Amino acid sequence: MRINQYIASAGITSRRKADEYIEDGRVRVNGAVLTSPGYHVEEGDIVEVDGVRITPAERKVYYLLNKPAGYVTSTADKEGRPLVTELVPDEVRVFPVGRLDLNTTGLLILTNDGDLSNKLMHPSHEFSKRYLVRAQGIVTRAEAARLEKGIDIGGFVTSPADVHLLKHDRNSTLAEIVIHEGKNRQVRRMFKAIGHPVLELCRTGIGNLEIGRLAVGQCRKLSPAEVESLRKAVK
Ligand code: URA
Repeated sequence: MRINQYIASAGITSRRKADEYIEDGRVRVNGAVLTSPGYHVEEGDIVEVDGVRITPAERKVYYLLNKPAGYVTSTADKEGRPLVTELVPDEVRVFPVGRLDLNTTGLLILTNDGDLSNKLMHPSHEFSKRYLVRAQGIVTRAEAARLEKGIDIGGFVTSPADVHLLKHDRNSTLAEIVIHEGKNRQVRRMFKAIGHPVLELCRTGIGNLEIGRLAVGQCRKLSPAEVESLRKAVK
């Protein structure tokens, strides 16, 4: 990054004024007064303005990933399994917002915006989360109604949910479920509680965000409008 941009993004002054600071000998790089306004800051450079070290504000990035099965929702894994962070461009370090189980696929947000991430995960913001579920056996309407009403999943009764039974064959049922909370392995525990263990699970939406046609393993940047709508939703 060019030095004047670096100084501006640290919130010290505008780019134009930063050039004046350089001319006036107020800027040092690695201890030496900078004489070249065209200098490009390198990783590891120590930049000082008026004797005070500065660091630029980190640019915030927001990705929507269609997580494949077998990827760990984390930035590190002791067992060396593949990480969701390996599937986004590594221009800046990002971390996942919330968690999907190892074998769950679908919509995952990754960002370096800690503030927004904390707000999104706070239980007071009841974001709807939509999942496509393939469950073992044929789920009846009465069983779906138990899920909708709220069900004990072991020390916790879930809050009301919406369930649509989409289709079934002889061995399994395809359903959509919308929940408003995020207990550990919640959807799997809910279907297990009605006697129909989950065979496949995919998150298709969070709030206004949809996985759409994004292929498994692919990611895209959230649009400014999508980021803004998330911000508004957690205000
Ligand atoms: N519910 C689950 O059971 N697993 C997930 O990964 C997400 C929601």
